[in-house]
Amino acid sequence: MASAAATFDAVKTNLDRAGQGHLLAFYARLSGAEQAALLAQCAALDLAGLSGLIEKYVKAKPAAEVAGAIEPVHAYGLDGTVNGKSYDRAGYLAKGEALIRSGKAACFTVAGGQGSRLGYDGPKGCYPGGAVSGKPLFACIADWILAVQQRYGSRIYGGGGLVIPWYIMTSPQNHEATVAFFRQHRFFGLAEADVMFFPQGVMPSMELGTGRILLSSPGEIGLNPDGHGGSLKALWSSGAIADMERRGVEEICYTQIDNPLVRAIDPLFLGLHRFAPDSSGEMSSKMVRKAHAAEKVGVLCKVGGKTAVVEYSDMPETLSKKTNADGQLTFDAGSIAVHVISVAFVRKLNAGAGGFSLPYHRAEKKVAHADFVTGQPVSPEKPNAIKLETFVFDALPLCEGGRSIVLETDRVDEFAPIKNAEGADSPATCRQIQTRRASNWLAKAGLGGVVPMSAGGEPDCVLELPPTTALYPEDLRGLSVAKIAAGEKRVL
Ligand code: UD1
Repeated sequence: MASAAATFDAVKTNLDRAGQGHLLAFYARLSGAEQAALLAQCAALDLAGLSGLIEKYVKAKPAAEVAGAIEPVHAYGLDGTVNGKSYDRAGYLAKGEALIRSGKAACFTVAGGQGSRLGYDGPKGCYPGGAVSGKPLFACIADWILAVQQRYGSRIYGGGGLVIPWYIMTSPQNHEATVAFFRQHRFFGLAEADVMFFPQGVMPSMELGTGRILLSSPGEIGLNPDGHGGSLKALWSSGAIADMERRGVEEICYTQIDNPLVRAIDPLFLGLHRFAPDSSGEMSSKMVRKAHAAEKVGVLCKVGGKTAVVEYSDMPETLSKKTNADGQLTFDAGSIAVHVISVAFVRKLNAGAGGFSLPYHRAEKKVAHADFVTGQPVSPEKPNAIKLETFVFDALPLCEGGRSIVLETDRVDEFAPIKNAEGADSPATCRQIQTRRASNWLAKAGLGGVVPMSAGGEPDCVLELPPTTALYPEDLRGLSVAKIAAGEKRVL
């Protein structure tokens, strides 16, 4: 075995060559264990790969690239048509239901993000999501799984035997806190053996302009999660795909953690993804019509003939604002970051020797770190660092022939993300949308009269409608609901 001194010399030489020698500046001050840990962290860096990325993304600021001509997508519409022709919604729904009943669908949630915009200091899934109950975002998804297991399980096993396994991607920073939270809440009623957690990969944070890797403390490199695109590798390297294959799972229902209304397992979406004639069956997406041109959602479109998402920050403003003759936004397919991804697609992506690679996106961020000279903690006032991340939707163009379908859904039914502490996409807008949805569903079920309305036509109360009560508006039919008082808060 190499001596500690020899290891130090070898690591130092490589770091110096890559212009990252400063990472060992405080080595002599560290304890033996800390020295060993730092050397291991340094040795694990892909210095050659990083140099290329630093030249491209950190020292320079590449203009947003859109690789080809952009055209709108033809989504499977809420009105039952696609590209002007009707499609068999009921038929695809039934096919998706059959997939669920036969145990071929799993739920997958990416929850490795840092939640910095929300200013919440913990795994985002622990944040209150229920408009009235305040139940955590993780519990909102767990309830969806429970409701779907109950609905489709009882039909084949005569009493609930269906299992929908749930895979949750954490980050090294929030993994332990996430698992502890699930233990504390007894897995929200799910079987512990059917909930699997795995941490995503990381990337070092780099100083803006110079590309020097930051130290979070004198003995530790500053690492950030590598973006939700990392999930496509982490699903594989963690053994999650192998676990799915053992269980007979074929389709992965991908969702983010920030949306308590997410239809975590959607039979119609599954059916279209798997059986629509223009689907490769590899990866599909859901959209809502954009609320306005500047809404901060990625746009589903065709780029060079292939289905893709252009992130809001990369979409040329002229295209965001472009309208059709009828005044509708031309690029109005807002991504809600909900996908179905086939197990076979993830296997295929990871099959090559070096694996696959997704493009990196740069973000300028404020990152606390150890001063390069003194090692003292620094809390920057303005962005000082670049984080590099990959995005899962950049895998869409890798689908066979670029064929990947898009399903339109109703934003009040399925999209109430919590991203910011205030304003758009905040806890307040989320409560408002949950209330509006519950009120709409009650009205559709003929129970509209029980909801008090304000003069402006908005419900004058706060409502929460858990999936265990209703997965669809028609599930409310025949239910007896007592009149709701103005200002009341009620879980239905
Ligand atoms: C995201 C999408 C946007 C979409 C919108 C819908 C990106 C880059 N953009 O925006 O196209 O319209 O949602 O709500 O995703 N995450 C990880 N690991 C990471 C980074 C993020 O697991 O390394 C998870 C987060 O926990 C969260 C989700 O990914 O669940 C979204 O991440 P975020 O970076 O906040 O994207 P948004 O700007 O919200």
